[in-house]
Amino acid sequence: CGIVGILGTHEVAPLILEALKRLEYRGYDSAGIATLDGGDLDRRRAVGKLINLSDRLVHDPLPGKTGIGHTRWATHGAPTEANAHPHQKGPVAVVHNGIIENYRALRAELSGSNFESETDTETVAHLCAHYMAEGLPPRDAALATIARLEGAFALCFLFEGEDDLIVAARKGSPLAIGHGEGEMFVGSDAIALAPLTDRITYLEEGDHAFVTRSGVEILDENQAPVTRAETRIEARAAVIDKAGYKHFMAKEIHEQPVVFTEALGRYAPGAAPVFPEALDFTRFDRIVLVACGTGYYSCLTAKYWFEQVAGLPCEVDVASEFRYREPPVAPRTLALFVSQSGETADTLAALRYMRGRADLVASLVNVGTSSIARESDVALAIMAGVEVSVASTKAYVNQLGVLALLALHAAGQRGVMTPAELSAEIEALRHLPEQMRHVLALEPRIAAIATRLAEAKSALFLGRGVMYATALEAALKLKELSYIHAEAYASGELKHGPIALIDRSLPVLVFAPHDALFDKTVSNMQEVMARGGQVTLVTDAAGAATASEGTAAVLTLPSAGRLTAPMLYAIPAQLLAYHTAIAKGTDVDQPRNLAKSVTVE
Ligand code: G6P
Repeated sequence: CGIVGILGTHEVAPLILEALKRLEYRGYDSAGIATLDGGDLDRRRAVGKLINLSDRLVHDPLPGKTGIGHTRWATHGAPTEANAHPHQKGPVAVVHNGIIENYRALRAELSGSNFESETDTETVAHLCAHYMAEGLPPRDAALATIARLEGAFALCFLFEGEDDLIVAARKGSPLAIGHGEGEMFVGSDAIALAPLTDRITYLEEGDHAFVTRSGVEILDENQAPVTRAETRIEARAAVIDKAGYKHFMAKEIHEQPVVFTEALGRYAPGAAPVFPEALDFTRFDRIVLVACGTGYYSCLTAKYWFEQVAGLPCEVDVASEFRYREPPVAPRTLALFVSQSGETADTLAALRYMRGRADLVASLVNVGTSSIARESDVALAIMAGVEVSVASTKAYVNQLGVLALLALHAAGQRGVMTPAELSAEIEALRHLPEQMRHVLALEPRIAAIATRLAEAKSALFLGRGVMYATALEAALKLKELSYIHAEAYASGELKHGPIALIDRSLPVLVFAPHDALFDKTVSNMQEVMARGGQVTLVTDAAGAATASEGTAAVLTLPSAGRLTAPMLYAIPAQLLAYHTAIAKGTDVDQPRNLAKSVTVE
């Protein structure tokens, strides 16, 4: 969910709406705004995307120069208007990101109160109103309320009759305070506030903030006054437009050759990779990679690279499992967290687990001001530029690019590769943008394959080695975008169960460059075709020449090596999902039920 609060000098509803647009990546199940106008508290809420809320505000405007807003990704309770934030009880309105774990107990305690929603958040408003009814002034009532809450949250309170006050609190979910001239702001991240101010103070864990037009007063977790530094964020309020494309996703897919070149320029300006000194691989005996979603698949790919290219033992896990598994951490471990947004709650928690346990905590992020970047010893920017489409494309490919260079860096430092070998690998990476353009030119063919795929109820993706990770990402893309059930299997594992699924109605997509594993993958593909499976083979010219027979379709890509193939083969995977979504008429940039950044666990 995304939060915005403004103590302004102008009408705030339009400004809050604008800021919420920049937070819509955190969820779009519902949205709402509450304002104070001459001390009167009022709110408007709407189910679905922000556009529904802005339509409502056109017919039913919300006056006032003080307000809070919210865009929701549903946790407790369906995406209905009653469950939309802000939640209000009497003189208190609240917006919330996170989960209040003890809300059932609190709700039972407040049983005399009439609840309108099924949310955990409404309990916060009721509890605060209860303390006010007992005679506590707003600030004290808010502090007393926050002290009772268990779980992870970022909160903003607005009070009737208090035109110059927002109370904010951070525990587990990030919150930034923005400073203006006679105006003050609160936001889930600096990006939301970018058009309003570039002067930001990040609240720390357990902080409470009393925000007024003249500034902010911050109390730490023990309610003792503290000073938190003000930083300047890059003023360049990211321009967000589709640049003539129909969807952000299409634009972002087509940007890949350009953004990949930028990452290469940053981390391999010459014949060898260049990384911050702290990333000294002679100090590490193993690497642990942790991420969620698409980032997890870039990590899975990198496992093959770190192990095969650099001879470095590598463990990979999804953050939600890793954080609770409490894995023992061996000495000389590098922990590396991969996150596009840098705000994913599970990844951040996993990072905190590794602090003090790993020798170095590094991250790969696309948002330099994010929580994960700020809490890492070393944060590497993936240089993908703002990614708007909820389904990740260019961030994935750039994560892969930086991870490939990092594996080469490790190989060089550990003496596994000579400078000449490193330079040859980097040269191959430099050809990648041009090869990507060739693959992008295959779009009409891929769209034709997608038209058939759109008819399917289910699809199977197969690959071996690095292509297994690519198959997993391809299946995820198809699921996210077209709502078609898709599964990926390591080709060699197919015979141990999933082969039972094969019949004439099942499209099977095989990712197989003509490499050392090619013949083995082709054998698995033959097993599929022998049982009537409809195979689309994604390969290169050498592969197409030997293995096209019996397939339903073949896509021929430029030839690629183990370091370049995952980036190249990601493109048909993305375009297939994109065009299947177009054929099915689903929402490409904001698929149902998803959020770009999941800030709850
Ligand atoms: C959400 C998004 C995914 C993304 C995952 C991890 O679920 O929908 O596309 O891969 O979060 O996000 P992160 O920002 O940490 O890479």
